[in-house]
Amino acid sequence: MATVSLRNINKKFGKTPVLQDINLEFPDGEFVVLIGPSGCGKTTILRLIAGLEEQDSGDVLIAGENVNTLPPAKRSIAMVFQSLSLYPHMSVADNIGFPLKIAGTSKSVIREKVAAVAEMLQMSHLLDRRPGQLSGGEKQRVAIGRAMVRDPKVFLFDEPLSNLDVSLRAQMRMELKELHEKLGATMLYVTHDQTEAMTLGERIVVINDHVVQQMGRPIDLYESPANTFVAGFFGSPRINLLEATLVTADEKLATLRLSDGLTVQAAVDARGAQIGDKVIFGLRPEHVRLASSDEDETLVGRVHRLEHLGDMVHVYVALPGVGEKVCVKVKAGSEYPQNGAQVDLAFPVKNSLLFDAAGVAFPRSA
Ligand SMILES: Nc1ncnc2c1ncn2[C@@H]1O[C@H](COP(=O)(O)OP(=O)(O)OP(=O)(O)O)[C@@H](O)[C@H]1O
Ligand SMILES: [Mg+2]
Repeated sequence: MATVSLRNINKKFGKTPVLQDINLEFPDGEFVVLIGPSGCGKTTILRLIAGLEEQDSGDVLIAGENVNTLPPAKRSIAMVFQSLSLYPHMSVADNIGFPLKIAGTSKSVIREKVAAVAEMLQMSHLLDRRPGQLSGGEKQRVAIGRAMVRDPKVFLFDEPLSNLDVSLRAQMRMELKELHEKLGATMLYVTHDQTEAMTLGERIVVINDHVVQQMGRPIDLYESPANTFVAGFFGSPRINLLEATLVTADEKLATLRLSDGLTVQAAVDARGAQIGDKVIFGLRPEHVRLASSDEDETLVGRVHRLEHLGDMVHVYVALPGVGEKVCVKVKAGSEYPQNGAQVDLAFPVKNSLLFDAAGVAFPRSA
């Protein structure tokens, strides 16, 4: 087991910067998910840690040791790739044992270790088959077995489930989580999928525009996103982000104007901004409620569009003078309005978020 640290990492391919001043600490034994849009540098980060790619500047440390000049084979790391690279002509047992064979391990030790790994992955009955005789999920398990067999200190997973169908992904997610609990190894896991990130990660790192946008526990990223990018990355349907103007701000509460006569409040400390500044008001669809008109503090709007999802209905509401439609999440069984109906919206001030014009969050008040 080992911590992994990236210190001031910079990396360009040709003239194109891919990673800029990346500083990350992956704690010993933790399951950390890296997520971000395609091309943001996720695979590159894993390859730098594995030693398959070299940074232009900065340091990679594994278990406190600087490994900048250590070749991949000496880093005690195993990587599971998105595209499976099993040897089709070899049995499952030989595929799993291959890294040990390369390392010159004796046949009897290989047999023992392969058997132990296969048992842990519940695939002892598959050892004599070839990859062509396995399902997608079983193949993926062989690839993971091949990573486990060398007892690496750190596992790197690069979108290992992206080729599997939805139900198999869900099953493999559970298996990976259990595997992590059994092995207690440091695991870094790259994905595009926000559900995978939220369910697997003890911690999540969000990367965009070559830099780390935020690192934190899933719930912290969801409830207190550092900026509009992170806020928009998690949650479905997407968080409502509405342009507004700051009217008042103290350490606990900000008042904002969405349009003429339409004022809302957010429980944030926006004293860093000037009155009259453009800001962005953030409200998650599940935090907005269809209210009755005799309640205080409601916003009156009109239903613009409905989306039926079976268990849920997404009601998109147009507010007077506001460009963006506000999405409200309503349970399908409950009553919901029809297109064009007038509705009242209510939301708890404590759940609303506020960002400056550049998208950086104001701290939520305690
Ligand atoms: N060997 C290379 N030579 C030149 N450019 C590269 C090379 N490898 C990666 N890149 C570029 O670096 C950027 C980051 O690539 P990387 O593979 O790390 O992205 P990613 O976040 O893993 O994306 P995806 O989610 O699509 O897998 C991309 O713009 C990519 O085109
Ligand atoms: Mg990638």
